[in-house]
Amino acid sequence: MADYESHSYDVIIIGAGGAGLRAAIEAKGRGLNVALICKSLLGKAHTVMAEGGVAAAMGNVYSEDNWQVHFRDTMRGGKMLNNWRMAQLHAQESPDRVRELEGWGALFDRTKDGRILQRDVGGHRSARLAHVGDRTGLELIRTLQQKAVSMDIDVFMECKILKLLQDAEGRVSGAIGYWRPTGEFISFTAKAVVLASGGVGKSWKYTSNSWEGTGDGHAMAMWAGADLIDMECVQFHPTGMVWPLSVRGILVTEGVRGDGGVLRNSDGKRFMFDYVADMFRAETAESEEEADKWYDDHTAGRRPPELLPRDEVARSINSEVKAGRGSPHGGVFLDIASRRSAEFIRRRLPSMYHQFMELAGVDITATAMEVGPTCHYIMGGVRVDADTTATTVPGLFAAGEVAGGMHGSNRLGGNSLSDLLVFGRRAGMGAADYVEGRTGTPTIDHDELEAVVQESLKPFTRETGENPYDIQRDLQEMMQSNVGIIRTGSELEEALVELDKLVERADNVAVKGGRVYNPAWNLATDLPSMLTVSRSVTLGALNRKESRGGHTREDFPKPDPEFGKVNLVLSQPSGGGMHGEIKISPEPLLQMPDDLKVLFEETK
Ligand code: FUM
Repeated sequence: MADYESHSYDVIIIGAGGAGLRAAIEAKGRGLNVALICKSLLGKAHTVMAEGGVAAAMGNVYSEDNWQVHFRDTMRGGKMLNNWRMAQLHAQESPDRVRELEGWGALFDRTKDGRILQRDVGGHRSARLAHVGDRTGLELIRTLQQKAVSMDIDVFMECKILKLLQDAEGRVSGAIGYWRPTGEFISFTAKAVVLASGGVGKSWKYTSNSWEGTGDGHAMAMWAGADLIDMECVQFHPTGMVWPLSVRGILVTEGVRGDGGVLRNSDGKRFMFDYVADMFRAETAESEEEADKWYDDHTAGRRPPELLPRDEVARSINSEVKAGRGSPHGGVFLDIASRRSAEFIRRRLPSMYHQFMELAGVDITATAMEVGPTCHYIMGGVRVDADTTATTVPGLFAAGEVAGGMHGSNRLGGNSLSDLLVFGRRAGMGAADYVEGRTGTPTIDHDELEAVVQESLKPFTRETGENPYDIQRDLQEMMQSNVGIIRTGSELEEALVELDKLVERADNVAVKGGRVYNPAWNLATDLPSMLTVSRSVTLGALNRKESRGGHTREDFPKPDPEFGKVNLVLSQPSGGGMHGEIKISPEPLLQMPDDLKVLFEETK
């Protein structure tokens, strides 16, 4: 067997966005030997795409806000499919996590009397998002990175993990991967592994995700025997750029609407008034006049319909475009220019101002933006225990976007940053507790490790074969049209057939050159995750015969109360990686205790 670089740790954390960094800080703080491994450069993570803020019921702007209201908003936003315990812990603990971040140096915008300022976005009853202009995710990463570096946590950057390794008892005991710049292999033994690898958006054509979002953590967890839940619940953020085509999908923060921006169709109509679902009617304004009053004083008038949860807004935009009332490039208009001063826009939304100016030549202080839905986030993910983030595989933990349950079928804006702070910390604690109670030294099976290495090198052994970029492009086109924002049974069946063909093509992928700086080979090693995740999403979507949150079936347009009682659980009992059969079955949701149920009765 070849001799590979190898390391040994108490805890390795795969993924260095907000959840990974927060987990590392916690585990290191417990005196453990911790490594943080990231496929990209440290600090470059989808966390920065949560621009508008971090949700926490601190009550700085509206003093009546509290964790119970945040909990209720989150559950209603997720159409009650959420793991109630995760939503409870999240609502209770996020204010402390934000204050902790401030203590570590995060520079939040302030109220006039010097407290952390909070802004509105969809689905939150109160102005709740602590923010730094429209660069909140960036500030969060910057702060956590600074903290982690000060603690001497070992960081392995540009290191792609191919597979988790397990001992004879099925406990996770390490991982094997390679350095992206050199192609040299590297193995880790570890007593516990935390997955914090983010999302899956790169399997769709239009996405706010960068190249890293290939679902590696979701796939590796399932290959190791963990359960995934509700993978059909994918969030199409209502506002991505639609033009120029080269930047289509890049996020336009919900903070624009929170700060007064409105959506209009090609007739100039504020169309969201036509799309208010029964569930939100009582709290949503019926006229522009009433909606506008609310921006100045939340106790006057009701909420503007532009601030409905994301799933509602994205579907409405889709309908307007389909009805022929879209903007010239296939979106709708997001107008803040006619409603706020240029000074206000540049101060509150500096990144949006620059993004449109640089990428589209559009001055958003003078002109409306063209926007449309973009694949942004997956609510489904690895099944975890709420308190510890433990998965169903011993020694494996998951936090942040890779974990399922917290957001149900639809996530509210700002709840991802608070999620990754709350559950990143809990993952660090859960892993540390596990390590302290674990017996024996972790062992890895060197034959298995060698098999993974040889499998990853196969693309170099083929003289002819498929180009990985062609497979990726065809996958993205197919997922966009067959497993997109609106789904039908026949298109989903077709998607499964197409996925079989794509797996066959991925088996025949060929790459030229060597392992050093070879992005084609890097992509070839991402394809198994992308295909595994795409199949999981498609199977979930086919089996959930209802519409709920981010999952919309044209052939089952309403929520079905029976489906509202179950998670769809996916697993691969016989293994097999991207070739393995995926089983899917409904399992009852965790039962919410009566003292929390009451919170929903009060608002009926
Ligand atoms: O619109 C945004 O700023 C995104 C926030 C989020 O995904 O939480």
